[in-house]
Amino acid sequence: MLGRFTKQAGQLGRWSRAGVLAQRSYASSPRVSEPCQRYLKVTHPDDLPEFDSPNSVGATLKRFDASTLATYSRPSVLLTRGKGLDLWAASDDAGSPSGRGERHYLDFSSGIAVNSLGHADAQIAEVAADQANRLVHSSNLYHNEWSGELADRMVKLTREHGGLGIERGSSEGDLKVFLANSGTEANEAALKFARKHGMSHSGKPATKSGLVSFNNAFHGRTMGALAMTPNPKYQAPFAPLLGDVKTGHYNSFEGLHDLIDDKTAGVIVEPVQGEGGIFPAKLEWLQALRKRCDEVKALLIFDEIQCGLWRSGSLWCHSNFPTNAHPDLITMAKPLANGFPIGAVLMRKSVADSITVGDHGTTFGGGPLTSRIAHHVLGRLSDPALVKSAKAASDKLKARLTELRDLFPELIRHEEGAYESPRGKGLLIGLSTKDPSHAGKIVKLARERGLIVLSAGSDAVRIVPSLTVSLEQIDTAADILESCFSVLARETRHTA
Ligand SMILES: Cc1ncc(COP(=O)(O)O)c(C=O)c1O
Repeated sequence: MLGRFTKQAGQLGRWSRAGVLAQRSYASSPRVSEPCQRYLKVTHPDDLPEFDSPNSVGATLKRFDASTLATYSRPSVLLTRGKGLDLWAASDDAGSPSGRGERHYLDFSSGIAVNSLGHADAQIAEVAADQANRLVHSSNLYHNEWSGELADRMVKLTREHGGLGIERGSSEGDLKVFLANSGTEANEAALKFARKHGMSHSGKPATKSGLVSFNNAFHGRTMGALAMTPNPKYQAPFAPLLGDVKTGHYNSFEGLHDLIDDKTAGVIVEPVQGEGGIFPAKLEWLQALRKRCDEVKALLIFDEIQCGLWRSGSLWCHSNFPTNAHPDLITMAKPLANGFPIGAVLMRKSVADSITVGDHGTTFGGGPLTSRIAHHVLGRLSDPALVKSAKAASDKLKARLTELRDLFPELIRHEEGAYESPRGKGLLIGLSTKDPSHAGKIVKLARERGLIVLSAGSDAVRIVPSLTVSLEQIDTAADILESCFSVLARETRHTA
């Protein structure tokens, strides 16, 4: 039997029933206590019909597959354009001048937590076009007008909002920025900086070179970042990886003393694990990490590549934490230039002081085009009006997902603690399915009804819309998810 919202009083956990009811006033149509049934039918089938035409989507994808290395498992969806949270894919359903029609999707993935300002933002397009007409690349052998502006804005915003040991609203606090091109590269740089810092403190190479990460972490695919990503699926084919690496238990206090010792140069952790399944770190645990790192003079690195830059509701995920839970360095990437490739490390002066000219470098990092776009994006993301509307969107999304959880208690986990559903912060939300295989099924069912969401970890449906998402779009997405869980509930009952 499907659970009925009206029968679930008192079971809403962190987000109260009263809160859910208050949120209902946002709904475009009056809500009822049964899940939405408007999206039961498949409207966006993954499977393509066989077409003779060489221009058909199926034939085009077949041609692409012939020459593209298959490192991704992808549905037969050929995306062509976007606007805000709307995405369009080529379709053979109807004719068009190119011989193709279009199919519309509502994107609640933001290109994996990247397009925080939505797709094809007009202002970003204007900034990018203007800079592309002036100077795209000039090498790091010379200064350009924008990388310094970006670093300056990042440091000033951190003083305003808090982070890296600086209290919110501070007028001072020295920080430095290194600009790279991706998340994994930002982490590579941070790990190198930690080792260099360790070496400068021990005086000898390799005596303070230990690196620590935690189970379920995802830090990237290059060799150093991969070594800190203790997932056998990603690591096993590429051994041996970087040495002197230890893995701890996320959110566990046990054994921290031995895990982080005098030989540790750096500890890297996601304040909210993203790919691993949307698990927020406990504040007291981060404080314990900070304390232990201070005791042994190791650097604490927060990987905020997925959870930072307002995704969790504040500039940095740790901005509102007490300073005794702040890191020495943070890494960021994904939304910083809203889809243009970029990564960055922001660090305390004490870390920067151990890095000298020639220690690290990059051809493209800090180029004027991406830096100018990121400078613009950082300003837009920090606009109080957007922060406020993203907070309202997060409240509504959590309310609708809490309701969804209570409509399907047989399918969605809702234990208190780590497996609580929905879990996460801001607009980085995970819904944990009791049967781990159901998370992937929901992602597919949703896509086949025109909604793009993601999976994460072993059992989570990951919902990460652009921060510009409207309350109406949240209603639509939640309605589609209700229909998908209805379909899954029926399938599960039939196969039981
Ligand atoms: C927390 C975290 N760190 C690092 C990375 C790697 O970033 P990139 O794919 O840009 O190399 C990701 C990507 O998903 C991530 O989520």
